[in-house]
Amino acid sequence: MRDHIICYINGKRYQLNQDHAFMTMAEYLRYIRGLTGTKIVCAEGDCGACSVLVSRIHNDQLSPYQSINACIAKMYLYEGCHILTVEGLGKAMDLHPVQEVFVDEQGAQCGYCTPGFICAMAGLAEDLKIKNQKPCAQKVKNYLTGNLCRCTGYEPIIQAGLKLDLENTPSLKDLYRDEDILADYKKEKPISIKITGPDQEIFLPKTIDEALAYKTHEVKMISGATDLGVVTNKGKLKLNKTLSLNNIENLYQVEKSDHFYTIGAKVNLTELEKKLSSDFPEFARLLHIFASPQIKNAATLVGNLVNASPIADTIPFLMVSGAKVRLQSQKGLREVEIKSFFKGGYKELDLRDDEIVTAVIIPRTQDEYKLYKVSVRKDLDISVVTFAAGYKLQNNQFESLRLALGGVGPIVITPKKLEQNALGKNLGPKLFQYLAQEVEHEITPMTDHRGSDQFRYQLARNLMIKFGDEILKELNPSQFEASI
Ligand SMILES: Cc1cc2nc3c(=O)[nH]c(=O)nc-3n(C[C@H](O)[C@H](O)[C@H](O)COP(=O)(O)OP(=O)(O)OC[C@H]3O[C@@H](n4cnc5c(N)ncnc54)[C@H](O)[C@@H]3O)c2cc1C
Ligand code: FES
Ligand code: FES
Repeated sequence: MRDHIICYINGKRYQLNQDHAFMTMAEYLRYIRGLTGTKIVCAEGDCGACSVLVSRIHNDQLSPYQSINACIAKMYLYEGCHILTVEGLGKAMDLHPVQEVFVDEQGAQCGYCTPGFICAMAGLAEDLKIKNQKPCAQKVKNYLTGNLCRCTGYEPIIQAGLKLDLENTPSLKDLYRDEDILADYKKEKPISIKITGPDQEIFLPKTIDEALAYKTHEVKMISGATDLGVVTNKGKLKLNKTLSLNNIENLYQVEKSDHFYTIGAKVNLTELEKKLSSDFPEFARLLHIFASPQIKNAATLVGNLVNASPIADTIPFLMVSGAKVRLQSQKGLREVEIKSFFKGGYKELDLRDDEIVTAVIIPRTQDEYKLYKVSVRKDLDISVVTFAAGYKLQNNQFESLRLALGGVGPIVITPKKLEQNALGKNLGPKLFQYLAQEVEHEITPMTDHRGSDQFRYQLARNLMIKFGDEILKELNPSQFEASI
């Protein structure tokens, strides 16, 4: 057992024991390593001023560099990682091409948010190089969703992105010779890590059996820390004994069989969006507008599910797709339908204290999906109301229909009665008007800072009508156009 983590920052190796491993990455970089280019502004993953690039060693290879929010990242989660900060990209007299183009286009306006923008854009440049693509306005904007400018505006920054000269931009892998980092890390034995500080402990086991042996009621699981990092920064939760599956290689896999996708607990949402885009394009589209690239590069599906927020974006889809959650403990393994995983009360789950979620299983069926998210802003915003429908059509009727609505009760609601009543009826505006009228009897929305209960009732009705309009339009585009 090791009592420290090993990571690399701008090409240099560091060993972090209990003194520093429990710090957030942003604090460690700034206060211990003096890398003050990484800023701390919101400290909750919202503004991107703390963006850095991270590559993780998997199966003796460094993964592509991706941007993350250092303010909510815990250092102990970055064992075997190479972290690049803005200082590591280029030097004052030898700027990285992304830094140069920022200067040329006057993208460095306030200077304070700029390092975060540059790291995020270096992540974009790397991604474009890997895919052999060119920058376009849409890609630049998408990649910078997680970076806020509070002073001037985005135009010069977007222009900088559009003028990226990818041919003369070195791959991030070549900046610090990844092969040297890999050779150095190979000297370490692949063993479990336990770091015990005066008031907290983190266990990073190498195997699932070790993880299960450690898990008790007093142990909190942590995955990408995009929920937990925010609540701990705000002082709303103190992590005492924490367990991370980060160092268990096979949990990073998405397995595809004839009938299922099995998504390991450590698959991040960026990877998930890529892997599911051909079979579940509607879910991939929803993931595309989930949070920001920085958040999705750290966040997991399992974290979104177990956090169990009624406005979590992925839960409605998991409910209507008939997905199951795989739970493991020393007593054995069980697979529970997502619908039964939620027991009815707010954040009340069918998850025992000794159990760990190791995977989510999504059936590959012929069902079609419609997934909607209503939020105040389209990008990087938490939903007010969510809606999911999974269905099959036959002879102008629903052969099957599953519905789920989030943000309208303590858990994501599945209106059974409506699903049943819709079967056997001809598809037409009347049916969807009926469903829109009836949905209000199935939900119990409340008023909060995102919207009033009445607003949420209205959204639920509107989304049902939207669902109908889209289906009817797809079935008969010309007739639909004529009737409106
Ligand atoms: C700026 C910002 C924007 C966001 N935008 C969105 C958004 O658009 N839509 C949305 O739905 N959410 C959003 N979120 C919330 C968050 O990103 C997601 O819920 C994310 O999927 C959580 O995953 P994680 O891996 O970071 O979980 P963590 O924060 O690590 O953990 C979340 C919960 O899951 C539990 N857990 C983790 N792994 C396991 C396991 N293997 N077994 C059992 N329990 C486990 C933890 O104990 C914890 O209770 C946002 C968050 C931030 C900070
Ligand atoms: S400081 Fe705002 S996202 Fe990290
Ligand atoms: S350029 Fe930094 S806040 Fe606008």
